[in-house]
Amino acid sequence: MKVATVVGARPQFIKAAPVSRALGDHHHQDILIHAGQHYDYEMSRIFFEELDIPAPDVNLGVGSGTHGFQTAHMLMGLEQVLLAEKPDRVIVYGDTNSTLAGALAAVKINIPLCHVEAGLRSFNRDMPEEHNRVLTDHCADLLFCPTRTAVENLAREGITEGVHFVGDTMYDSVVYFEDIARQRSRILEKLHLEPKKYLLATVHRAYNTDSSENLSNIVNAFSQLQETIVFPVHPRTRRKLTGLDGAPELSEIKNVRQINPVSYLDMLMLEQNARVILTDSGGVQKEAYFFAVPCVTLRPETEWIETVESGWNVVAGTSPSDIVHAVETISPAEERQIDFGDGKAAQHIVEILER
Ligand code: UD1
Ligand code: UDP
Repeated sequence: MKVATVVGARPQFIKAAPVSRALGDHHHQDILIHAGQHYDYEMSRIFFEELDIPAPDVNLGVGSGTHGFQTAHMLMGLEQVLLAEKPDRVIVYGDTNSTLAGALAAVKINIPLCHVEAGLRSFNRDMPEEHNRVLTDHCADLLFCPTRTAVENLAREGITEGVHFVGDTMYDSVVYFEDIARQRSRILEKLHLEPKKYLLATVHRAYNTDSSENLSNIVNAFSQLQETIVFPVHPRTRRKLTGLDGAPELSEIKNVRQINPVSYLDMLMLEQNARVILTDSGGVQKEAYFFAVPCVTLRPETEWIETVESGWNVVAGTSPSDIVHAVETISPAEERQIDFGDGKAAQHIVEILER
């Protein structure tokens, strides 16, 4: 079987790594196409090096731009590659503009489309990701769901054919890399951090970065928290953080440690040793749950609703008092029972593709 894998943004390298490995183990050909949505070393190449993903066969180098510009340029580039390569299947991951471009490119030239991480919904159509995932699910032939809730979401929209609960490939990556991270990462020593004596924060969603009010609120919440906050800053956020109305400069808040985006192994170490994680990231919310670290979500809703229902995640939004209250009071139950699969989602995906 000849498969074309379309990736473009940071979380997709992590989601695709186990599937690419499983395809290789089963001796299938995997044409890896990087749309170039993320391009800084620490947003892209570092993951290929660290996760042992082969270098992309093609990098379209599309870069940043408006949604229409970015998606259109990816679509044009992807169509050319797919027409030349003629794969039997195209696999796309998650909900970024690279996902939607890959989906459109495949279905327009009748190549069966597989969506990994299908069926997620925030039910908030103001999010660009919600459009990307709904549109991709509605044109996919095979839909690989990370949770049972995702399967139910699809059924509610009338999608039942080609739907498979396989588990979460991000969970596969955590299972595969957590010991490797403990052996190789030196990030705790480098930052002089003691386990469970700091908070970890990430912020990059448009809801927060495109609203100076929401971003100021988050910065104010950080300044009200007493604990050390380790904050690997996404490039999108970095350019919005200076000169915010109604909030101090982040560099003036003594308990905040701003750092560049970190590698995956360093991130796994930072996550598992944090006391609480504050984030608007989908992937980081899940990883908090995998590591049994309480999570405070800096958005008004989440796709990973099971983590909220089980008490491990509090959806705090952006009000400083709500964020501070959540960080100080969150106390999940000991038990974690959400089914994200058996850590072999990628293998199940490849076996289904072979059928
Ligand atoms: C994208 C996804 C989002 C995902 C996130 C993962 C869409 C609509 N959004 O958001 O769902 O959660 O990736 O991180 O697809 N930039 C750099 N260097 C880079 C990449 C980006 O400086 O390597 C800056 C540019 O100024 C760019 C901005 O970040 O304009 C936003 O990048 P973009 O890829 O458009 O969206 P993300 O916010 O990264
Ligand atoms: N991540 C990382 N370094 C960082 C921040 C995040 O390796 O500095 C990883 C994180 O562990 C998770 C993924 O990136 O696996 C999440 O991606 P991101 O938050 O960019 O996007 P989202 O999941 O919100 O789409």
